[in-house]
Formats: sequence, C-alpha cells, structure tokens
Amino acid sequence: MGKSFAVIGDPIDHSLSPNIHNAAFRELDLDSSYIAYRIPKGELEGGIEGLKKIKIDGFNITIPHKIEMMKYLDKIDEICNLIGAVNTVSNKDGILKGYNTDMDGFLEPFKKKELNIDGINALLIGAGGAARAIVAGFTKEKAKSITIANRTLEKATSLSKFAKTIGLNANAIEIKDIKDTISNYDVIVNATSVGLKNESSVIELKGINEKTIVYDIVYMPMNTDFIKKAKVEKATIIYGYEMLLGQAVKAFEIWHGIEAPYNAMKKAVLGGF
Ligand SMILES: NC(=O)c1ccc[n+]([C@@H]2O[C@H](COP(=O)([O-])OP(=O)(O)OC[C@H]3O[C@@H](n4cnc5c(N)ncnc54)[C@H](OP(=O)(O)O)[C@@H]3O)[C@@H](O)[C@H]2O)c1
Repeated sequence: MGKSFAVIGDPIDHSLSPNIHNAAFRELDLDSSYIAYRIPKGELEGGIEGLKKIKIDGFNITIPHKIEMMKYLDKIDEICNLIGAVNTVSNKDGILKGYNTDMDGFLEPFKKKELNIDGINALLIGAGGAARAIVAGFTKEKAKSITIANRTLEKATSLSKFAKTIGLNANAIEIKDIKDTISNYDVIVNATSVGLKNESSVIELKGINEKTIVYDIVYMPMNTDFIKKAKVEKATIIYGYEMLLGQAVKAFEIWHGIEAPYNAMKKAVLGGF
C-alpha cells in the first residue's frame, strides 16, 4: 500500500514541502503522497487524532506547533529532546516518534560547500525555535563562540544560557547593540522572521568581507534584503532554501530509510520560486 505524509501548520498554503517530497517520490517511483494540512493554533490535539485515524506514515510540523507537538509524542529522538522542538514525526502502528531535522538541515549547506564551523565566531540574530536548533548545530560543529542578538533581550539571554549548558561560549545582546561590531564575526545568521514580508534587514552589513558567511534562514523570497546587502559586500551566501532542502532530505531519510534524491528535491525547491 502507498504511504502518506503531510506537513501541518498555519499558515500552510505556501509551503514548499509538498513539492519537495512529491518530487522525490516521482524520482524514485515511490507509491507515496505528501499533502499540506492546515491545523490552526489551539487545534493540534484533534488534528493529530485525525492524522492517526487515516494512518499517516509521517508528518512535518511548522509554525506554530513545533514546541506544543512535543507533548503528543510517544518517543523522542535525542537531538529533538535537546532542542525541545519537533519538526518531523514518524508513525509506526500509532506510535509517534519525534525528530528535529532543522539542526542537520542548517548544517548541510556548510558541509556541501566545505565551509568550516570549527573555531569560528558566530553572530546569531533571533532567539526563537529555529535559533535553538542553530545553537545546537554550532555547538555540534565546535564553533568558538556565539553572540545571540534579539529584539527581546530576555529570550536571547535564555538561549545563551542554553548554549552554555551544552558547551558553547555564548553571550546575549539586543539587536540595536550590534552596531559596528559586525566585522568581528565569521558567520552571521538571520534567524528572525524578518524578510518574509520583504521588510528591510534587521541590521546593516557594512564592514564584512568576502570571507564572511552570511546565512538567511528566511527562504521566501529567495533574495531577501539581508541577502541583497550581503551580496553588495561580496560575502559568501547561504540561502534559506538550502536549509529547507537539508531538513527535507533528513526527514525523507528517516521515513524511507533510503538515500534521498537530493538533486530532484533541489530542483523542486527552486521551481517553487
Ligand atoms: N529555511 C528553513 O528551513 C527554516 C526552518 C525553520 C524556520 N525558518 C524560518 O525562520 C524564521 C524564524 O522561525 P522560528 O520558528 O524561530 O520563529 P519564532 O520562534 O516565532 O521566532 C521569531 C524570531 O523573530 C524575531 N522577530 C520577529 N519579528 C521581528 C521584528 N520585527 N524585528 C526583530 N525581530 C523580530 C523574534 O524576536 P522576539 O523574540 O523579540 O519576538 C524571534 O527571535 C521564520 O521565518 C521561519 O519561516 C526557516
């Protein structure tokens, strides 16, 4: 029997995940399907019951359910437990197991491009759910230090405490205090949601150079204002779609137990723009 998968969240209509996974099924001739399913905030429990009833084989979770979903899991993968948020679930005979593939998805473009994280100083802007997975990623790959800058200082401080607990040298500041320290960093990541609505980037990038890696995890539009500004400075760019692709590849491999067709999935992402 064919397998079925979904992505749940709200809003969900612009999700690229169905394109990415269905392209992989076509490429490998798998009798599977993947749909986008809107579950509004506050309706997660009922939504999960529905998915179990139709014997869904697996699903991805996006805003706003990544943290709340943790309480409906029967089993939790170690990294998912560490991050405290879930973006991928497998369903084996009604037993839901949670994973977080955002961390590996974030790291994937560094590996593909042979860009080193070991010993670097990172500036992470944003302190939400995605930022937590990124902190875990920088720790895993042995970054030297991380400065977490957030609009709300409290959240940056709390994330910086988490970073220190797992072994990464960290400090917290407000975004407005980044100012002219920008040239101190080897890697600068935007993990706020700013850019999605074509807003101006949260910081200016004057003072960086072609060795600076600038990574925007916002993937729609592909060329955010942050990415455009990084291009003016000739920085090394990593696009949000690369992380999206990385997390989808990992989710595919968890569900299907075979190597994901990377190129077909990449073509599907790029076709979505
Ligand atoms: N490429 C990928 O695969 C991928 C994966 C995961 C997430 N994402 C994207 O990453 C973004 C963040 O996701 P998330 O799950 O971490 O969201 P979240 O938990 O809601 O966190 C949002 C973050 O953005 C900040 N922010 C929002 N509006 C702001 C503004 N006007 N000025 C300054 N900061 C602002 C928030 O700061 P405060 O704490 O001050 O509110 C917070 O740090 C989303 O756009 C999401 O689509 C991409």
